Amino acid sequence: MQTRDHWIVAGSLAMLALGVSNTMAAERTGRDVVELICSACHASGKDGAPKIGDVAGWTQHSKKGLAKLTESAIAGIGKMPAHGGQPNLSDLEISRAIAFMVSFGKAVDPNKPYASPTSTTGEQLVQSHCVNCHDDGKSGAPRIDDFNAWKPRLQKGMDGLVRSAISGHKAMPARAGMAQLSDTDLRNAVTYMVVQSATYKPRN
Ligand code: HEC
Ligand code: HEC
Repeated sequence: MQTRDHWIVAGSLAMLALGVSNTMAAERTGRDVVELICSACHASGKDGAPKIGDVAGWTQHSKKGLAKLTESAIAGIGKMPAHGGQPNLSDLEISRAIAFMVSFGKAVDPNKPYASPTSTTGEQLVQSHCVNCHDDGKSGAPRIDDFNAWKPRLQKGMDGLVRSAISGHKAMPARAGMAQLSDTDLRNAVTYMVVQSATYKPRN
């Protein structure tokens, strides 16, 4: 492998370790997310959704703690679909929306998610799901054993790739079609795939 490739991988992994993000600015406020998405059920109380402005209703839920509420909203709970049915919302956007609804609009937007739970390891997720397309390069998916296919994509940085996995990218659906996954799950899976591709050695 050329030195430059090493540098790209090392640089991306260092950014990952530092948690540096260049995507935060694009994320929407709690108010925006609630108005666009959550209010479809939480304004009227559809299917038992706690209503915005209903202090007693929300207290029942919010005594679990905001971290727990975020986990439920990410994975889905009862009749509430994972990510409110919008898998392209980031965990941060979900956290902000919850803070907004629980405080009835008084909460300032927090700068980080209350929780970004993991339900599986990156390796498990890749082997059980991502390989369906990334093993044989279905619909142009960069293959796990093909670092050359990943190299140009790495120019957008690890955060950019994680953002693509969250929001979807061309033929790849948002959250790879698994709406219950958290941002952290996807980050772990992307990291695993990129490291695998960079260290892949064909068997003779
Ligand atoms: C399709 C309808 C629907 C949409 C859209 C929706 N919710 Fe819900 N939500 C529900 C229902 C129904 C419940 C009650 C679930 C239960 O407790 O069984 C609920 C419960 C919740 C809870 C409480 C979870 C708990 O652990 O008690 C939170 C937090 C929440 N929603 C956040 C959100 C956020 C944030 C959005 C927007 C991104 C959203 N919801 C969009 C239907 C919806
Ligand atoms: C249904 C098929 C499918 C599945 C399942 C799938 N992918 Fe993809 N993925 C694709 C395709 C197709 C592309 C190439 C899209 C394009 O043209 O840029 C892609 C591209 C990507 C990229 C590069 C995005 C970019 O910005 O260049 C990442 C990162 C990625 N996938 C991560 C994952 C992860 C992580 C999983 C498992 C959780 C997964 N994919 C599962 C089809 C899939």
